[in-house]
Amino acid sequence: MPADMRDGAGDFSAPQSRSSGALIRAWRGRALLTQEELATKSGVNVRTIRRLENDAVHRPRSRSLRLLAEALQLDPYEQALLAAAATSAGSADKAAHAKDAGDDAETGDGRQAKATAGWRAPRQLPRGVLRFVARAGELAELDALLGPRADEAGTRICVVSGMAGIGKTCLALHWGHRARAWFPDGQLYVNLKGFGPAGDAVDPRDALATFLEALGVPPRRIPEDLPARAALYRTILADKRVLIVLDNAGQADQVTPLLPAAPSCAVLVTSRNALTGLIATEAAAALPLGLLRPGQARELLAARLGAARVAAEREAADAIVARCAGLPLALGIAAAHAAAHATTLAAVAARLAGRGRRLDTLDAGDPAADARTASATPAIGQGGTRTRYAPNSPPSLDPGPAVRAGPPLGR
Ligand SMILES: Nc1ncnc2c1ncn2[C@@H]1O[C@H](COP(=O)(O)OP(=O)(O)OP(=O)(O)O)[C@@H](O)[C@H]1O
Ligand SMILES: [Mg+2]
Repeated sequence: MPADMRDGAGDFSAPQSRSSGALIRAWRGRALLTQEELATKSGVNVRTIRRLENDAVHRPRSRSLRLLAEALQLDPYEQALLAAAATSAGSADKAAHAKDAGDDAETGDGRQAKATAGWRAPRQLPRGVLRFVARAGELAELDALLGPRADEAGTRICVVSGMAGIGKTCLALHWGHRARAWFPDGQLYVNLKGFGPAGDAVDPRDALATFLEALGVPPRRIPEDLPARAALYRTILADKRVLIVLDNAGQADQVTPLLPAAPSCAVLVTSRNALTGLIATEAAAALPLGLLRPGQARELLAARLGAARVAAEREAADAIVARCAGLPLALGIAAAHAAAHATTLAAVAARLAGRGRRLDTLDAGDPAADARTASATPAIGQGGTRTRYAPNSPPSLDPGPAVRAGPPLGR
């Protein structure tokens, strides 16, 4: 075995504390490659490899590191280690950093559309709603807030807030799918369950473990404690363009550990709370979601039931629109009821008009569309919505005992 191949082979003790040169040497040894063979496989000049392994390069080019990582078949955890080691070696030289960033930019205007080489992008966004309506202004606002911007120094964060059933998740997923091309390195999604029964809320430590696995970190390499998990997560995302959707966040502290630091990433949070803490401390943008206007509500009904059916029963459709008071969840359930029971819109409107009628009398049997998961009465706390849904605004929909007995929505 040639000397340069034996050198460092198999020695993986405390990889976190090793220099980038030592890491490359060790991984080359593991791959049973000589420096010349690695040069041929990676396309990186053999002299550069030699100098990198001797830590004689104080500002390793990200392109060279990427080519070596591919040739050495490093997993995302190892890639992150190498990037971190190379960055700390070069951090004394700010100019070097700037040049390195320049190198990345050189890899193409393709920066916007091309995924990082060798990266298997996670695609975790659940399916969006099939017939999405309205919200054009909010979608444009999200484009402006979370789309790529050259001058940004940190991660772009936006909090979509509003009462239960107003369409926060729908909007986040619809926008996330629409904006996919801006995030070629992937989309991460977690339902943080911040408003379910007590004890259901997802611990950010668990959310990080799921994200790290999705980012390719083998489970045995996921650190135990929260700060170490968060640090590894930030390291892996440091040069990636990833969208992170944090759905149903209860409190700011459920979100904070899940925030990457990279300006190339964007985070879309949904919450029934305004999460003003996050807006204050993390410079997150606020996007409060209001109720649908009557025209938009009719559009939702028409999208679900067909324009002809809504036009044929215009008065009944208007009555449903009025009784659902612009709440998409209520409109969706009313439409589902009309479709599932092949009943007239007039009959649906009559049910909704009944005294003491509850939303769950319109439940079409789909737990995901169970009206009891949402309340049509409480407005969200901390002034998070533009439009408050007043308890007695006509006509009010009684959400049923399961909701009335539940925790207050505005925490
Ligand atoms: N823009 C929209 N177009 C079509 N349907 C919509 C739209 N927004 C919401 N809906 C309907 O309303 C239902 C409730 O929306 P969504 O689940 O997004 O509410 P939410 O604000 O996230 O509620 P929660 O706080 O309970 O999570 C959806 O399942 C969908 O059927
Ligand atoms: Mg939701």
